[in-house]
Amino acid sequence: MKKLTQLVYISRSTSVRPENFKGIEPTVGRILLKSRINNKRSGLTGVLYFGDGCFFQCIEGEEEAVLDLLQKIKDDPRHSDITVRSQRWIEKRSFGSWEMKFVAIEAPLTKLLESRGYKRFDPYQFDNQMDESVLHFLGAATAVDTISE
Ligand SMILES: Cc1cc2nc3c(=O)[nH]c(=O)nc-3n(C[C@H](O)[C@H](O)[C@H](O)COP(=O)(O)O)c2cc1C
Repeated sequence: MKKLTQLVYISRSTSVRPENFKGIEPTVGRILLKSRINNKRSGLTGVLYFGDGCFFQCIEGEEEAVLDLLQKIKDDPRHSDITVRSQRWIEKRSFGSWEMKFVAIEAPLTKLLESRGYKRFDPYQFDNQMDESVLHFLGAATAVDTISE
């Protein structure tokens, strides 16, 4: 089996209004539906978080597939300021049962942000340790899986 890599990047949404939105924003819903179809085909798994107008996404799989997707993602006009935060080799997937898990803003994350002195979900302000904490949080968080276009 080829080596697995895990990549985390952040970005700012261009097409989704950052105000508090009940349920899943239609644009995010469309991204997720498409992601789940494509990722299954490419053997990719991961998690997507959207909050306060920012995306935080982890993608894992074979390096070529991950980097091909990153290229497509970088060309996507629905977000901007795409910044890779980390890429590492992994022995085992953290999101192996998800073509793309989706987590919406929820109280425990708000608490985590507050406890580290962040007023909102602004991943551009996070340090390395906070990235790890968010990733860990997303691994344990309940997924939102009622997605419709
Ligand atoms: C925040 C964000 C996350 C995305 N995540 C994925 C993903 O995990 N998988 C995927 O195939 N496309 C993802 N996309 C969509 C891609 O940018 C691109 O539109 C899509 O892969 C094109 O698919 P197609 O080549 O089948 O038309 C994402 C887009 C955004 C804005």
